Amino acid sequence: MRDLDTLPKTELHLHIEGTLEPELAFALAERNGIALPFASVDQLRAAYDFDDLQSFLDLYYATMAVLRTERDFTELTLAYLERASAQGLAHVEVFFDPQAHTSRGVPFEQVVDGIVAGLAIGQERFNVTSALILCFLRDQPIASALETLELAASTRLASIDGIGLDSAEVGYPPSLFAEVYEQAAELGLRLVAHAGEEAPPAYIVEALDVLGVERVDHGVQAAQDPALLTRLAAERIPLTVCPISNLRLRVVDDLAAHPLPRLIEAGVLVTINSDDPAYFGGYVGDNYAAIREALSLTDAQLAQLARNGVEASWASEPRKRELLEAIDLWESA
Ligand code: HPA
Ligand code: ZN
Repeated sequence: MRDLDTLPKTELHLHIEGTLEPELAFALAERNGIALPFASVDQLRAAYDFDDLQSFLDLYYATMAVLRTERDFTELTLAYLERASAQGLAHVEVFFDPQAHTSRGVPFEQVVDGIVAGLAIGQERFNVTSALILCFLRDQPIASALETLELAASTRLASIDGIGLDSAEVGYPPSLFAEVYEQAAELGLRLVAHAGEEAPPAYIVEALDVLGVERVDHGVQAAQDPALLTRLAAERIPLTVCPISNLRLRVVDDLAAHPLPRLIEAGVLVTINSDDPAYFGGYVGDNYAAIREALSLTDAQLAQLARNGVEASWASEPRKRELLEAIDLWESA
């Protein structure tokens, strides 16, 4: 068994706000004069015991209140890159939730500039390349998403590569956001969306057919729908699967019962990602290690998952070639 930390990895499903470790949350709370509703780091960590997506989101939005300044976002991004690069991260496409910050009075530009500064320092320091994806909160009004898109277009379009859709899924089907996605496409932004995490396969079909996404985030519920699996494989539509997240949010009862092998068997372009690593207790390398263990994956299968991540990524062609060569080297070493 090869050392997984040295396998070059991408991560295409990573919420930067979900990388806020309790220690940093308390440090930022103190610096910004904000009271967290927890007495200690241990008490906050003990609250990371979730029943479903909503129980996680409640804590995720409450804790991110400590993020106030551009510097906070830079430090958050750098802390993530340091941890993930130690597990072999080479390229990351970072989600952020601007509405969760602008609604608290944090200026949009400070959020973007803080993350972008962290990513630039991270590229120098850790040799991690990156892209940035603005996510809309699907449980907020469409008007708020449209306003946020306008703000992005008029202030920081050059810093943003694509848009995504996240937060509470069931009851908020992708088609609600058709106009937002149409406008984003006109702006030249790339399109992804969370679909089929908790909601049925029909949400995945809507994300593809109504929003026109090129990649589906989670998408694990596709395993229930053989026709959809055939389509995903034929069209080479990547799924950004997050195994430890699925376990912690009880999308699956047990990693050994995760639909990943069925997705692979169907020929779907599956990638492995951490989602919200601070909350779910696992960075990208931990996710590879967990599936290796629970599903008895071979080194060849793990290398293929890493290659899928490169293929599904928005890295430049030279960067993709470099990463694919490094993955080949890992496998043949
Ligand atoms: N699903 C939906 N919304 C989210 C997630 C997720 O896994 N993580 C952060 N926001
Ligand atoms: Zn997610």
